[in-house]
Amino acid sequence: MCHNCAASAVTASRRSFARFLAVGAGLTVLTACTPVAPEAGPPSSASPSASPVPSATAAGTPVAAPEAATVAGTPPEPSASPSPSPSAALPRQFSLTDPASPWVVVNKHRPLAPADYAPADLVSPAVGISASGESALLNSTTAAAAEAMFAAAARDGVVMVLASGYRSYATQVSTYNGYVAARGQADADTASARPGYSEHQTGWSFDIADGGGACAFQPCFADQPAAVWAKANAYGFGFVVRYPWMFHETTGYYYEPWHLRYIGVEAATDMSVRGIVTLEEYFGVGAAPGYP
Ligand code: DAL
Ligand code: ZN
Repeated sequence: MCHNCAASAVTASRRSFARFLAVGAGLTVLTACTPVAPEAGPPSSASPSASPVPSATAAGTPVAAPEAATVAGTPPEPSASPSPSPSAALPRQFSLTDPASPWVVVNKHRPLAPADYAPADLVSPAVGISASGESALLNSTTAAAAEAMFAAAARDGVVMVLASGYRSYATQVSTYNGYVAARGQADADTASARPGYSEHQTGWSFDIADGGGACAFQPCFADQPAAVWAKANAYGFGFVVRYPWMFHETTGYYYEPWHLRYIGVEAATDMSVRGIVTLEEYFGVGAAPGYP
């Protein structure tokens, strides 16, 4: 169970924590320096009507069984049957490898296939947007769920905007290279996925901001109302905070309170109920702290 991850994470070294703070502090500079930083744009009105249930696309169609379920660091006994992943208990199962599946797990051990995958159903959600061009797009299922979630946040008096959505492979090349140029490859790899390894390329993920730019893409965003609201409520719309606090040894990335990932209401709610915070544990695919 991941409560191993929690234990080891809590005992992470001060050096790691200091490095995390340094990474966060560098983000402001990076945002200003990178040639592909999201551009601000006028917010549009939110629509409250969409359903966050996964659509019945070919890849979104439930599959018979998930991949073999093992938690990182705890390989099964040679003679034992592999223990099922927590997600195996859900009645509907989806592919963990097809990038058009709401359960696709993309991390440093699991690149997108094909590397230049692009969703066929990109749309611009009817939400406040501070991004432009392709980064204002999401796949259609995620867009509908985002519309419902942003509207619910607004009803609670919380301003939430879409700060960065879809990124093509080519855009991720520019984004990643911008991070490398600003801070070197080792640090870049703690904050930005290499091309072909980013969830943003699937259309299932996006970054949020508060509309005013407070702590945008910085660790202090965690204390902003939009992040606090999302952390507490996003699961009800099918989203998880993909890179939670102190789980970088599992996810490969430091805390990103702004990065939300759609997996569907059933799975996101199940994760919340079980107290599981990483897709790696929930889907039983193993930790991915670094590139192989
Ligand atoms: N910041 C996340 C890890 C990405 O680049 O996809
Ligand atoms: Zn992101």
